[in-house]
Amino acid sequence: MFKSIPIFPDQASTIAGQVDALLLYLVAISVFFSILIAGLVIYFAVKYRRRSENETPRATKQSLALELTWTIIPFLIAMTVFVWGSSVYFTINRPPAGAMDIYGVGKQWMWKFQHATGQREINELHVPVGRAVRLTLASEDVIHSFFVPAFRVKSDVIPGRYRITWFEATKPGKYHLFCAEYCGTKHAGMGGWVYVMEPAEYQVWLSGGTTGGSPVEAGQKLFSDLSCNTCHKETKEGRGPVLAGIVGTEVLMQSGEKVTVDETYIRESILNPQARIVAGYQGIMPTYQGQISEEGLMNLIAYIKSLEPKKDTGATQAGPAQKQTSSEVKSK
Ligand code: CUA
Repeated sequence: MFKSIPIFPDQASTIAGQVDALLLYLVAISVFFSILIAGLVIYFAVKYRRRSENETPRATKQSLALELTWTIIPFLIAMTVFVWGSSVYFTINRPPAGAMDIYGVGKQWMWKFQHATGQREINELHVPVGRAVRLTLASEDVIHSFFVPAFRVKSDVIPGRYRITWFEATKPGKYHLFCAEYCGTKHAGMGGWVYVMEPAEYQVWLSGGTTGGSPVEAGQKLFSDLSCNTCHKETKEGRGPVLAGIVGTEVLMQSGEKVTVDETYIRESILNPQARIVAGYQGIMPTYQGQISEEGLMNLIAYIKSLEPKKDTGATQAGPAQKQTSSEVKSK
């Protein structure tokens, strides 16, 4: 649509068209009303100009119909922007099921990416065309912003929490990747390229050298290196909750709050274990703040997410707390 207007980047993802259509709609509304209002101001200024020194304006009557019209029509227009805008917003913020996981860390002044198969890259990101990619982003220091204009994806990355975003590239090629949040002296240099490849080409790229194993393998190693496995056992007898199958479930906390276990909650539990303790357990876990890098945290989480609940015992789901949760829900 914008091929002839060079200020618009390529439309290279599934949402790019939607974002541009919405932008165009907003621009069209603004242009229409700007011209209408400026035109009327000029027209009325001429038509109702003061013609003599003694002229006094005629008294005007209120018109309910007119007031209703100029209230209701803008309201309806504003609602179309709201509904359309939220629908695009939700699309951008809800990765489709089955998306491919890639982990990213922003730090002064580079982007580090890790693929589920173990490949690591810096300021470069290789992805296959036609496949949804779910990006879990973290920052090691200050606020950065992951921005690929051709995908219309921009996501602030805030220290201390995860930001999940996604895209599905539609055209093979090389697209600029930026940091879009001023983050220090070399902010302008914090960027690189996203390479969108044909699936077969991508497979060839993937088969290239990996270092340090996949995130799940690296996480498993950390899990035993940090002795997490001494408390988080495979059975309920452990001093900490069973972790297999816990991700995505709703768990009751000591405070009575119910928490859906996601990346952010696991991260918090590792760095600040006392913040929200699962009901039925004691707050005896030490903090691992300062002992694990952002990348290590992502690996640990990838490992915990990969754990399958044991089906034969039927006792692994999240221990006693999980069962309390469901009865709690019903009784409320
Ligand atoms: Cu990172 Cu600007």
